Order: sequence, then structure tokens, then C-alpha cells
Amino acid sequence: MASFDVSTPQAGTATCMNTPSSQPNARGPIGIVAALHEEINELLTLLSDARCVHIGSRDFWTGQLDGRAVVVVLSRVGKVAAASTTAVLITQFNVRAVVFAGVAGALTPGVAVGDVVVSGELLQHDVDASPLFPRWEIPLTGMARFPADAALADGLLNSAGAVLADPHALLGPDVMRDFGIAAPQVHYGLIVSGDRFVCTSAESAVLRTALPDALAVEMEGAAVAQVCHEWGVPFAAIRTISDRADDAASVDFAQFIAQVDSRYSVAILRKWLSTTNGGLTTY
Ligand code: ADE
Repeated sequence: MASFDVSTPQAGTATCMNTPSSQPNARGPIGIVAALHEEINELLTLLSDARCVHIGSRDFWTGQLDGRAVVVVLSRVGKVAAASTTAVLITQFNVRAVVFAGVAGALTPGVAVGDVVVSGELLQHDVDASPLFPRWEIPLTGMARFPADAALADGLLNSAGAVLADPHALLGPDVMRDFGIAAPQVHYGLIVSGDRFVCTSAESAVLRTALPDALAVEMEGAAVAQVCHEWGVPFAAIRTISDRADDAASVDFAQFIAQVDSRYSVAILRKWLSTTNGGLTTY
């Protein structure tokens, strides 16, 4: 493996100044990000004191949700869209933490449609600068796996467990039957992200072989994790499993988001926000 200088380049003896916004703000709002309209529409109806700020082709909705200051934003789909949205959340809104909510395809056999995966760590499965850098490593960071914030993930895990304990109350029997959801589980572990919707059994088999501990695949989380890591802002993702990342992955996708994912996300986020600290006071 070639070796590269990963230190910060220097202009003579000049030192680099921190700008005020380069420090995370422990009293700032919580950033809530989703990739699709259907995933944030209901959250937006629940915002009080809602105000919209349009920056960089995104609508950032500030307001109060269950007594907490939040900024809710639609990132759109894919890693670049999610990363640029996150950078604005951090630099313009001084968020204290970022949570990404959305859907994912299952990779491990034990993860089923209707389950929820909370991120333990996140990796960009489509990054490969080998042989210059180890496969999956983000060049000049020395990192392939970006850990989610443990306290934040723990708070979301607890809330997801409480919400999924009674799926009938949330979804009703017809929706559960239509999507083959019986006793949904909550998982914690590796989520992988890439700029591809994985919708063939062959591609998901390749991912499973290369990354056997990956629980789920989606298109944004690890990019948001990288930006949050670089700014020192706590981050975690919750993903509802919408498909098995196989040849049937696109079937009923929109219906699933409307009838299952958005209901889970709203219920889990609201439970988490109304929990005494949701893991937030530890920052
Ligand atoms: N999001 C939901 N399902 C997905 C899949 N199969 N591939 C990538 N992103 C997804």
C-alpha cells in the first residue's frame, strides 16, 4: 500500500484559526434529516413555531417538536445530497446532533422487512481507492467505518424498542398483513451506504460476502456520518427495512414508506425527543 502524508498542509508559519461555527453548539437544535418527501411530511405537520429557511436548494424547517428545538430537512437521495445538506445544518444552524431517518434494504438474513436498524457504525461501500488506500477507506482520513454516537444511538434504540413493542397500535392489522410484518425487531450494527439502489440478489450477495457484518444498505447515512465526524457533531441513523435489497426491492416501495416507514419514524423520533435526555445531555 502506498503511503500518503495525512497531516494538514501548512502555509509557512501561519496557523489556521477556528471560526466560531467550527465548534458544535451543545445548546443548538437537533437536526433531523430524511431523503424523501413522504418521510418528513408528517413531521412537518407536527412542528410548532415553524419557519423555513431556503439555503443551497434545500428547505430547512426550524421549530419545536415535542418541546425540543429542531431543524427538519429533506436531503434528497444519495451521498452528495446528504453530505451537503448536513454541512449546512452544522454551519448555518449550529445543530447539537444529527439524526437521519429513512428506509434501507436488509443484507443479513436475520433482518426482515418491517424491522428497524439503528446505526452502530457506517461505511461507504462504493468507495474504493485501492491500491492507494485500503478498500472502503476514505482517503486521507484513515477511516472506513464511522462510529455513530453511542449515547444517541442508545436513546434511539430504546425508543425504537418501545415503539415496535406494539406494532398493531401503530400500523394496524391490514398494513402488517399486506407487508408480511409479524413481530418486528430492532437491530444495532453496521449500515453501509452507496450511490446505488441495490435491487438485484447478485449485488446484495456481493455486499454480504465483502461485508458480512453489514445489516442494511442505504444511500446516505455513511456520508452524513463522515461530515458529522469531521465537525465533531454527534450522529446516528434509524432505518426501517423496506426490502431485502434483491430482485423484488422496488415492489411497493412508495406504499411502504407512506404506510410503515413514516409512521415508525415519527413515532420513534417523538418518543426519543420526549425522553428526558435521549442521550443528549452527555455531550
Ligand atoms: N433504501 C431502501 N432500500 C434500499 C436498497 N435496496 N438499496 C439502497 N438503498 C435503499
